[in-house]
Amino acid sequence: MELIIDTADIEAIKKLDGILSIAGVTTNPSIITKSGKAPEQVIDELVAYLKPEQKLFVQVVARDFDGIMEETRAICALRPANTYAKIPVTREGLRAIKAAKAEGLNVLATSIYTPEQGFLAALSGADYLAPYCNRMCNYGDGVARVIDLIRMVETQGLSSKVIAASFHNVEQVHQLILAGVPAVTVPPAIAEAMMDHPGTDSAVDDFTADWQKAYGRNTLFS
Ligand code: G3P
Repeated sequence: MELIIDTADIEAIKKLDGILSIAGVTTNPSIITKSGKAPEQVIDELVAYLKPEQKLFVQVVARDFDGIMEETRAICALRPANTYAKIPVTREGLRAIKAAKAEGLNVLATSIYTPEQGFLAALSGADYLAPYCNRMCNYGDGVARVIDLIRMVETQGLSSKVIAASFHNVEQVHQLILAGVPAVTVPPAIAEAMMDHPGTDSAVDDFTADWQKAYGRNTLFS
């Protein structure tokens, strides 16, 4: 499974990338605006930081077919490989996904709220499908619908990878990992919550205290 970080905060990316195995970074227009920086600067920083094998996903802003295609080509040209244009599954977007794949461009179909939307993008060859898990919970069981999409893609023998997105708690991620999701993109706060538990810190504090009491030092060997 690929663990992707959903942020444009370069410092948060560097911090998590130093600790965990991060397969790439996703952004969207709202995430980039939250950085307070110009989009060009954010994208330059991401391109400069990521290793060639780490994936970069940048979302189109244009909403019409021609504009989406132009931005998709520009996004895919940012790096020699492993760079994907995120295209929302509107009707214009679905049309662009089909055309972009016919041109051999890397595409992530995004803003997916139903398994059917994701499945249609998969039929057009989208490389990744991003269902918005938490937002889908506003319309029913979001986790179950994301699992439906994973099963639909598998059952129909399609090559698209589901990259589950929009998480507001660790339990949502937990359920999808258990169900075999091929990729998740999580905000830094969720990645941090997945790492930490007060019991771990307390256990390590106890080990240190016992060692210090018995041997008068905090290292294995003197
Ligand atoms: O990657 C999609 C994601 O950024 C949407 O998340 O938290 O705005 O629903 P959220």
